[in-house]
Amino acid sequence: MIFIYSLAIITILSLGFTSSIKTRYSIYYSLAAFISILISIYEILRLLSNAKLSGLILSVEKAFMHGNVAVSFFILVMFAGALNTKWNITRKLFSIRAQLAILGSIFILPHGILYLVRFFVLKLPNILSGKTNSTLYLIYMAVGLTAFVILIPLFITSFKKVRTKMNALQWKKLQRWAYPFYFLSYIHILIVLLNDEKIDLIRLIGYSFIFASYSLLKLLKQLKINKIRVKNSSSYSR
Ligand code: HEM
Repeated sequence: MIFIYSLAIITILSLGFTSSIKTRYSIYYSLAAFISILISIYEILRLLSNAKLSGLILSVEKAFMHGNVAVSFFILVMFAGALNTKWNITRKLFSIRAQLAILGSIFILPHGILYLVRFFVLKLPNILSGKTNSTLYLIYMAVGLTAFVILIPLFITSFKKVRTKMNALQWKKLQRWAYPFYFLSYIHILIVLLNDEKIDLIRLIGYSFIFASYSLLKLLKQLKINKIRVKNSSSYSR
């Protein structure tokens, strides 16, 4: 349920604060960086001592650390490019898609970095000594890491200052890497869920429904664009 709550809250906040996010984006980036630093400090303390949160604050911490908040931002960016552009909700999301992508990236940083550190410090020694059966674990770590590496240039070039220094075509070409990033993110999440001792069907169906709907909507949109292009080029050649 943490994922559904995260997605609902992030959607409501993004639609409610669209103009503020658009103009005062640096405040939102700073807030996201501050939260990510707090999460990282808590996770490091948890690794080094027995520090443990509880109740609602633990659920909120988990939503950030487990990647649920970050993936909610990425889902909004995905749908901003796939829904009908005549809808008000699509226009709103589309107008802040770069800011949403940057916020998602800032929130995924502690997830990617700390799970990687935990892998080398805690998990790898157990795997090497044959104490755990780790095939699915290793696959989803490798897929997550690949998605993370693809995200870094996308993240950096989403900032207006960097974007304006780039050639428009070069920038557009680079941004196409967002598609393999979305695909690998879904595969990563799918394997994480399949690796659970007790598979959570609601979460599995929820994520699959969202990523499958996005793929279908995007495909239909692209087919429509191609059709218009063919029509325009044939009317020019007449
Ligand atoms: C270095 C890169 C990454 C590593 C090492 C990593 C590692 C992990 C691990 C260990 C989990 C299981 C957490 C648990 O259940 O306790 C997990 C879950 C998750 N990861 Fe990653 N990940 C990485 C990158 C990513 C990226 C790029 C995304 C993109 C959005 C992502 C999204 C998620 C989500 C949403 C979950 C939780 C699924 C759920 O339980 O609802 N991860 N990841």
